[in-house]
Formats: sequence, structure tokens, C-alpha cells
Amino acid sequence: RPLSLIGVPTDIGASVRGASMGPEALRVAQLQARLEAHGLTVHDLGNLPGPANPWLPPRDGYRHLDEVVQWNRSVHDAVFEALQRGHLPVMLGGDHCLAIGSISAVARHCREQGKRLRVLWLDAHADFNTSAITPSGNVHGMPVACLCGHGPAGLTTLGGVVPAISPKVVRQIGIRSVDPGEKRFVHEQDLEVFDMRYIDESGMRHTMELALATLDENTHLHVSFDVDFLDPDIAPGVGTTVPGGPTYREAQLCMEMIADTGRLASLDVVELNPALDLRNRTAELAVDLIESLFGKSTLMRK
Ligand code: ARG
Ligand code: MN
Ligand code: MN
Ligand code: MN
Repeated sequence: RPLSLIGVPTDIGASVRGASMGPEALRVAQLQARLEAHGLTVHDLGNLPGPANPWLPPRDGYRHLDEVVQWNRSVHDAVFEALQRGHLPVMLGGDHCLAIGSISAVARHCREQGKRLRVLWLDAHADFNTSAITPSGNVHGMPVACLCGHGPAGLTTLGGVVPAISPKVVRQIGIRSVDPGEKRFVHEQDLEVFDMRYIDESGMRHTMELALATLDENTHLHVSFDVDFLDPDIAPGVGTTVPGGPTYREAQLCMEMIADTGRLASLDVVELNPALDLRNRTAELAVDLIESLFGKSTLMRK
């Protein structure tokens, strides 16, 4: 299946400016050529247009809500169209609010095609805040809640049906920063979270076996990869670093085990912030891991 790279150059939902440069940094790190070297067909569709960041304080619990809605409408439409053409959309972010548009399009596609959906959320954060509990008003801290129907109508209705997804389809991995109200809400909604303590105690292999259990041939697997998932020692180019994330080896294994399922059907790569990076090394690391996600392996696979 051909890949469609879709740039989403925005930091509209973020707490720090600069993720809007993420798509170009991934291109500079040769994402397309590296994937093509593995025999994949890759179309770069360029960047989606959207409103500038007005950089205003939050209003009624949201920063830049109108602009976030505009960006996500265009993300939804681009992702839905790519899926309808039989392509595998890869979002080059951009801050994590874009997952509201991408995953609501994926969920709509799955509904129309009679597919099961599984969402893997690789992140330091649960991104499960609402306007009532957010400490910041930043919408990149709210996408999972919005997708589960807890959010403003402009964001919860993008794919036509509310909620776009059930919390039951989500598996979160690498989580190590959850706000106090958010923690209660995660518990209440019974979100399945493999936090860093779980990974420390059980290992990445066992974690991924559980997170990927019960996929079948009819499952559409969506991966939402927030680059702050990675330990900041190896991935400094993000706005919201949290110490104690997966190592290079753990992250590679995570990606390889996803690739082995053969079910990956859509991907977000978000929160890469070149303004905070060191000589583009976080973008290069992300490209390296994305290669593994699409099946690069050291030896021939048996
Ligand atoms: N929980 C914090 C907030 O709501 C940080 C969220 C960070 N999210 C992200 N996608 N980097 O503001
Ligand atoms: Mn094509
Ligand atoms: Mn995060
Ligand atoms: Mn995130």
C-alpha cells in the first residue's frame, strides 16, 4: 500500500512554539528516501494550509479553539481522502492536537469499511484533559478525550459520529506525566495505560505483546507517535520533555513489534520541535524509528 505523507505545520495546540517546523525537519532527515530504500512507494502530498498561531491566552479552558478546529477539519478531510484512495496516511506534525482530525477520519473509514480499530498512543502524556480539568488550556493535552466524545462540538463531531472512538480501542504506552484531574478521568473512563512503571517491571516485549493482543486480519492499526514518548536524553527536540522514557533499544523493539503485526494502516508523528533540537538529531532518530515501524530489520525476517 502506498504511503501518503501529509505535512501539518502547526503548533496551534502546543504550550511551546516550534512544532510547526516539524514536517520540514522530517523531510530534511530524508524520511521519504529512507522509506523508498526499503521498497515502499511514498507520495509526499506537501503541507496542509491552516491559520497562523495567534499566541493568545486560553479562553473558557481552550487556547486557540477556532484555529484548532480549522486545522483539524483539513486534517480530517486529507486523511479520509488518503484512506479512501487505499493509501496509508502518515501525518508529519505538528502538535498532537492534529490526532483529533486524523483519528476521527480513521474511525469514520473503519465504520464505513466494517473494520475494527486499534489505536496505539505512544506518549509521555495521556492527553486526556478536558476544558474543565486542563492545567494549561492547550488542546494538544486533550486529543484522546475529544476522540472519546469529551470536548467541544467543533472537535468531537469531525467524523460525523460522537464519540469517534471508544476508550476500549486505545492502548497508551510510555506514559509518565498525567495531571491530577486527568488522572481521575483516566481511571473513571478505564483507559488502558501501560505506564513507565509497567514497562520497567514487565519489559517492552511483554508490554507490546499485551498492547497488540487480539488484532486480527480485519483490524486497522493506527499509531499516534508523540516524539516525547522517547527519553529526552535521546530526543531533546520536543516542547514537553519528561525524563525517564523508553531508551533507544526499547523504542526500536516497540516499533519492530508493531511492524511484525502487518496491521499498521495509519500513523501520526507529532510534537517534533526543531527549534529545541540539536542539529536535527531528534528528527533523524524519529526517521530511524519510523523505518523500523515500516519493517526495516537487521536480518531477513523468518
Ligand atoms: N498534560 C499537559 C497539558 O494538558 C501536557 C500535555 C502535553 N501533550 C503533548 N501532546 N505533548 O497541558
Ligand atoms: Mn498513488
Ligand atoms: Mn506528549
Ligand atoms: Mn501527546
